Amino acid sequence: MATVVVTGRLPDETLGALRDAGHEVRAWEHDGPVPRDQLLALVEGADALVTLVTERVDAELLDAAGPGVRVVANVAVGYDNVDVPVCADRGVVVTNTPGVLEEATADLAMALVLMSTRRLGEAERLVRSGQEWQWGMQLLLGRGLQGRTLGIVGLGGIGRATARRARAFGMHILYTGRRDAPSDVVEELGARRVELAELLEAGDVVSMHLPYSAATHHLVGADELARLGPTSYLVNTARGPVVDEEALVHALQEGTIAGAGLDVYEHEPRVHPGLLELENVVLLPHVGSATVETRTGMALLAARNVVAVLAGEDPVTPVG
Ligand code: GLV
Repeated sequence: MATVVVTGRLPDETLGALRDAGHEVRAWEHDGPVPRDQLLALVEGADALVTLVTERVDAELLDAAGPGVRVVANVAVGYDNVDVPVCADRGVVVTNTPGVLEEATADLAMALVLMSTRRLGEAERLVRSGQEWQWGMQLLLGRGLQGRTLGIVGLGGIGRATARRARAFGMHILYTGRRDAPSDVVEELGARRVELAELLEAGDVVSMHLPYSAATHHLVGADELARLGPTSYLVNTARGPVVDEEALVHALQEGTIAGAGLDVYEHEPRVHPGLLELENVVLLPHVGSATVETRTGMALLAARNVVAVLAGEDPVTPVG
């Protein structure tokens, strides 16, 4: 019997799937991330780890687990919290959860596009404040999307699903990427690949959909925000550090860009205090994939990966 350590609360059917495969499950059963010292104790003797994005999977954690670990199944599509080379050195398979969270995350990206361009955070705060208000020609004017351009930075699964939604709102699509997207995707979306500088200059809204790595650290900084311009918006549902948050605060304060919608932060869960004071930014607590259906799909896929590797089979969705 193998021991699977699950580092957070997952839907019951996930733990059931692991137990049905004959494994012993040891899970962190409390709300919120497991404190590091307790995590190091929890993983001792594990054959498999099911991890969340709040856990750093590094040499220290693998040492604490011991030599039996064969697989780290991260319950997320992003895996910048996992030191993949260290895992590879030790023969530990790393898996993620692509293909199950694209639609939910794209829904949230589109929600942020609408919330920021139509000033819906401000609007809701106004009603909740109890201040007097009435219909007015100038009340909370935002900007429409019809005929505008959405710049997608990274046209992977989530980027494509976001582009599809934006097309239904009458937007044109530009994208950046290391290579051309498949021709059927390009055709369906009417999308054109351009360099980042052109995308920023032409985009009325720019939405980030790329993984975080050393290569994408601060991909959008002060110069890029200046290119975006005073009538345009930035949306980030990817990972916080792809944007230089300090530069973003300045751009929002100075009106270098019109507004932003964020679901992720550079030093998550800390939010830059400058952002909290601004009206022209919508702030969400990393809930891109947070639907019952999607979280269940993610957790079950992680469980399938663990069961496969522990059975000596190929993982379903290995990273890389
Ligand atoms: C969540 O942030 C994910 O990468 O799936």
